[in-house]
Amino acid sequence: MPPTIRRAVIPAAGLGSRLLPLTKATPKEMLPVGDKPVIEHTVRELVASGITDITIVVSGGKSLIQEHFRPNPALVAQLRADGRTAYADAVEEVAELARKGHITYLDQHGPYGNGTPVLNAARNIGDEPVLVLWPDDVFVAEVPRAQQLIRAYEQTGCPVLALMPVDPGDSQRYGVPIVKEDLDDGLLRITGLVEKPDPKDAPSSYAAIGGYVITPGIIDELREQTRRWTEQQGGEIYLTDAINAYASTRAVYGQVIRGRWYDTGNPADYLVAQMAFALAHPEYGPILRALVTELDDDRTGSGTPDPSTT
Ligand code: G1P
Repeated sequence: MPPTIRRAVIPAAGLGSRLLPLTKATPKEMLPVGDKPVIEHTVRELVASGITDITIVVSGGKSLIQEHFRPNPALVAQLRADGRTAYADAVEEVAELARKGHITYLDQHGPYGNGTPVLNAARNIGDEPVLVLWPDDVFVAEVPRAQQLIRAYEQTGCPVLALMPVDPGDSQRYGVPIVKEDLDDGLLRITGLVEKPDPKDAPSSYAAIGGYVITPGIIDELREQTRRWTEQQGGEIYLTDAINAYASTRAVYGQVIRGRWYDTGNPADYLVAQMAFALAHPEYGPILRALVTELDDDRTGSGTPDPSTT
């Protein structure tokens, strides 16, 4: 029986440049989707999936993330004294989430590339498997995406990649897995990933979406990359390279995630995510639907100015 996954790493040191100027002062992880910042959706998902040790790897300019999860007893006491119980509860709930997930922060150090935050966190991980989730993705799923990945790991004892079916025309945005065998329940045996292929060269119609179960063997491959990087005085460290090196001799799996996936890392998809969460909100959803109808009516005649023109 493979060990249970208790730890997770959220790499949050990225600049969020695709969302500038929105992310000039506000970390992309702190942009709201629905009534929560993006990263809180991920932390909630992890805690709901039994993760008790979350490392968020940060860089300068990310202190708002810490501020968000930090307990603020003075604020809570003030709100309670003012009888604003619901707000006090909401503030406490976020700190409680951070306590349950035992969030710790780590400064990112080292070469460019998405393997670096994982290597930074590896010192605290020891010999255990760990979930790595990009902070851009938000899932709405009956079984949390993290839980689906953990389940695939428990079945296989091997590294697992979160996959989603994508439009073949989008293959240049993602790592595309080479599928060897289609097992039950969306579990695929894969032999590697082709990073951002031309649609005509894409080996499958799935994309790796920034969710991984990383095992000590993959961490060894990342270390190997670092060793070569030091020898050559240059280079970058990528999870895909480590996964491919590992997969050349050992088994790696992909898990097609069941659920609705929102990418919040670029403006168009971020707006879609915001809209979807707003529409689904029990209190504000109906107001928004009425507004959409009204705006549609305006467009077809009444002449009220469109906010995009102001
Ligand atoms: C990274 C990975 C890629 C994956 C993508 C998902 O690419 O290298 O395999 O499909 O994340 O977001 P990036 O988007 O950082 O270039």
